[in-house]
Amino acid sequence: MNSLRDQIRDLEKSSSRLEPNTDKRDKYLQQVHQYANSFIEELDHTPTFSAAASEMEDLGPIDQQINLQQLLSIYKKKVATKGINPASGGHLGYIPGGGIYLSAVGDYLADITNEYSGIHYASPGAVNIENQLIDWMKSIFGFPESAIGNLASGGSIANLIALTAARDRHKIKGEKIERSVIYLSPQVHHCINKALRIIGLEDIHISYIDLDDNHRMDPNDLSEKIEEDKTKGLNPFLVIASAGTTDTGAIDPLDNMADLAKKHKLWFHVDGAYGGFFILCDSKKEQFQGIEKADSIVIDPHKSLFLPYGLGAVLVKDKEAVYHSNHYTANYMQDARSAASPVNPADVSPELTKHFRGLRLWLPLKIHGIEPFVACLEEKLLLTQYFREKLGQMGFQLGPEPDLSVSYFWYPAKGDQNQFNRDLLKAIHQDGRVFLSSTMIGDRFVIRMAILAFRTKLETIDLALEMIHDCLSAIKAK
Ligand SMILES: Cc1ncc(COP(=O)(O)O)c(C=O)c1O
Repeated sequence: MNSLRDQIRDLEKSSSRLEPNTDKRDKYLQQVHQYANSFIEELDHTPTFSAAASEMEDLGPIDQQINLQQLLSIYKKKVATKGINPASGGHLGYIPGGGIYLSAVGDYLADITNEYSGIHYASPGAVNIENQLIDWMKSIFGFPESAIGNLASGGSIANLIALTAARDRHKIKGEKIERSVIYLSPQVHHCINKALRIIGLEDIHISYIDLDDNHRMDPNDLSEKIEEDKTKGLNPFLVIASAGTTDTGAIDPLDNMADLAKKHKLWFHVDGAYGGFFILCDSKKEQFQGIEKADSIVIDPHKSLFLPYGLGAVLVKDKEAVYHSNHYTANYMQDARSAASPVNPADVSPELTKHFRGLRLWLPLKIHGIEPFVACLEEKLLLTQYFREKLGQMGFQLGPEPDLSVSYFWYPAKGDQNQFNRDLLKAIHQDGRVFLSSTMIGDRFVIRMAILAFRTKLETIDLALEMIHDCLSAIKAK
């Protein structure tokens, strides 16, 4: 019988393969680096969309070993060239962003060092970076130093954290749920409805507020509805505005809504997941007035700061409300806890162990500076204007002047207009040079444009116009 030491040594032969030596590390990185470079260099010449087949691609058995070169070839064929290419400037559908290079470098460093960014005791440096980013965001939105925040995986989880805090501040539980009211735009992102279910508020009253012609919530209607609900003996407790709706890019009248919420002692939440960072643009600052009065805000760096997917942020003024659900301790954590510690990300989120997301934002901000991000946002606003002007000249009807960089259009064809525009979008998807998505505005089927990817340039919009022109001619000729 082998000694225990011999058995361990035996296993080491295999387990040590998990630590490649310097030569192997260099080789792996070189291969990935080459792949990444040609991926980026080919972006301008590859389609943005290729309709996914309904059956799943065969990736081979999970336990079949292959080398990295083979794997990259499978990745290219079966992953990176299927569906929407989210890294492409031609992604003008849903909410794009693109994924800036230095974020990937930040992720690489975060993964290699594997910093434990949930708790200050474990990695004071990583927590310091995340808290500095939160402080920076607080200063952008006029939030006080006492506010707290979290770098979550995206806007949905960030909204979930904010709504949980609102629930806990107003003690919405038990019988109170069915008497309580939340005021929403019919254009609110569906992650809000999901979050309400997740946090046990499925049975709450939801009051949808009328919209004006620009798809912004009408504060007069909000005021009337709150008053009415109070006279009915209901318990209004939360108002949710959007700083950039997903469908139409509208910024709700934040200042008026904040004042109404304050007057009635309601929690005021602003979902700025898509549009929040446009506050950095001089041309848009005024429309964000009032956001500083919110109780909580969500903003997504993986949208309007162009990061790769995986970073949404939440800011909340009421620390105790956030701590109510998220601040827990346990015996096995006793060494990690100290009254003197700064805010631990793990106390502001359901997550304990998490990816050190801060680095993917901190690194590019430190290296590029903030100015190119702001220029990129201003550029997107102008590209939106340009796109709309040209579409108008091609005979398209346009949605109202957008507040930000999402808008919509449709072709006023004779006969069944919705069917015509559906066919047009289908042709656009088959073409694939540039990707656009659609939505319904009332009963009208419209084509959406969301100009937010950092790689979207003047040439991209010219290409989109050329593609739309070709598709329109083909549909008309049918
Ligand atoms: C306004 C708004 N809120 C929330 C979300 C959800 O964010 P995520 O997809 O990062 O979870 C989105 C996504 O597009 C959005 O546009």
